[in-house]
Amino acid sequence: DLSPIDKAKFVAARRAADLVEDGMRVGLGTGSTAAWLVRCLGEAVRDDGLKIRGVPTSARTAALAREVGIEVISLDEARWLDITIDGADEFDADLNLIKGGGGALLQEKIVATASDRMVVIADAGKEVEALGAFPLPAEVIPFGWQTTRALIEETLVGMDVLGRDITLRMNGDRPFVTDEGNHILDLHLRRIGNPRQLALVLNQLPGVVENGLFLDICDTVVVGHGDGRVELRD
Ligand code: A5P
Repeated sequence: DLSPIDKAKFVAARRAADLVEDGMRVGLGTGSTAAWLVRCLGEAVRDDGLKIRGVPTSARTAALAREVGIEVISLDEARWLDITIDGADEFDADLNLIKGGGGALLQEKIVATASDRMVVIADAGKEVEALGAFPLPAEVIPFGWQTTRALIEETLVGMDVLGRDITLRMNGDRPFVTDEGNHILDLHLRRIGNPRQLALVLNQLPGVVENGLFLDICDTVVVGHGDGRVELRD
């Protein structure tokens, strides 16, 4: 008995799992939607003898993939991937994304970029007309993070955005730490007028490792609805 939102995530994941074929090297995303995908693929491995190798985008996903019986290899062992399937926090009509709500954006972007095809699985509620309602995550080095935050704040003044608040992501009463040992700053921009410019400018600041804008990376979005319908956008 799934809630409509979980049903939407599940049907999108199940449809995307059908895109995975024998012999493929598969990038495995992070988050609640990607977890459905990993379970679907685990079932196909167990019940249908599907032969794949998976490259996880987080320690969490690696643990789940092993648990459901998927052979896990590192990106350096794989070198390139046939397909990556991952969730997203927002997607627009051009299939540009905000990711990193789960804090795994750095590995996710590296893995997606190394893939012939990137497929996003998402419930219909994540489609937006313009990116930015979801706070944009920026992964920053812990050293001097407050200085980096101030630098980002100054940089945002010249940018086409509606909000400029920046918060340090927390895990209880401590800063959240990513799999790569960094922190996450969430940029509350409300609307991003020029994602391309923003992504370039952010990544040029010392201390910023990567940002959650995925531009021209995603090839297909599999959109799930609460009533079980699925649509493909590409
Ligand atoms: C993880 O870092 C994120 O990029 C996720 O892909 C994103 O937050 C989507 O998560 P859900 O599927 O849980 O909504």
